[in-house]
Amino acid sequence: MAIAMQNANWIAVEDYKFPGGWISAGAATGNSLETDARARALCRELEAGKILVFPKLPYEFPSDEREFLLSREWNELRLHKNVSYRPDHDVMRGFSGDQGTQTHLHQVLRNYSTHVVDFLRDFLRPYAGKWKLDFASFRPFEEEGRDLSLHKRNDLLHVDAFRLRPTRGGRILRVFTNLHAMKPRVWYAIGDFGWLAEKYAGAAGIRSFAGKNGPLRRAVSRWAATLGLARLSRTPYDRFMLRFHDYLKENDDFQRNSPKIRLEFPPLATWMVFTDGVAHAAISGQFAFEQTLLIPPDALVALDSAPYRILERLTASRLC
Ligand SMILES: [Fe+2]
Repeated sequence: MAIAMQNANWIAVEDYKFPGGWISAGAATGNSLETDARARALCRELEAGKILVFPKLPYEFPSDEREFLLSREWNELRLHKNVSYRPDHDVMRGFSGDQGTQTHLHQVLRNYSTHVVDFLRDFLRPYAGKWKLDFASFRPFEEEGRDLSLHKRNDLLHVDAFRLRPTRGGRILRVFTNLHAMKPRVWYAIGDFGWLAEKYAGAAGIRSFAGKNGPLRRAVSRWAATLGLARLSRTPYDRFMLRFHDYLKENDDFQRNSPKIRLEFPPLATWMVFTDGVAHAAISGQFAFEQTLLIPPDALVALDSAPYRILERLTASRLC
């Protein structure tokens, strides 16, 4: 399959490979300024709603580890939506099987997270050292026909927002790899957050969130953030994005009739996307790995593309 031909919503990255890294002109001549400029240009595309796709793995993922993941049905995980891994505490959650398998899976997730972050440190160098490393996840179940409650469904278009990890204007970057040996992972996506906000933010109640951000409230939110009090630190932007996530999933007309694009990620493709700005739905596919990073506003290279800035322009008010 010719990945580059699919559509204008994604960019097939041809000048970064594993092993070796950058193969652009700048890297070949040792001109790191040229490589920095290329990386920055790609960050700008990502922030504007493009999906960057690598036809082959751009980081190390040993084949024996992939075979281990594909070798079983993971039925003991069915009580949970995914298996999650927290790199900062080296903790795995969502697995309740035997100890040997648990130890092995934990090791594979730890290695995956380390390798993918090493790759991102080089590939997305404008963000390196500024991001907050978030969770990784293993998604072993077929997405098509999953029995999940409406707000948890992956197959309905939505933008991401985290209930207990408010970003306070920062952005949610997610890197996915399709580990399936044969099947593509299929998405619908809408990359234009400006359009999405203009068309639906009003009906989702943005005005009521925009009116609740006086100086006292902002001071309390900042103070709570320094103390790590997640709920209290939520800005009106964070609260609205949680509402927007639910609103979009509840909106049958949006799900059926919005101008979405169908994307097919073949086996071993890796793709990255700001999922707070690109509406997405996983229609089908099985066995994916994912790593999330939170990019703070002061690390962004195109701040005006950030959803909070778009919503602030729309409402002429401060949301963070
Ligand atoms: Fe999502």
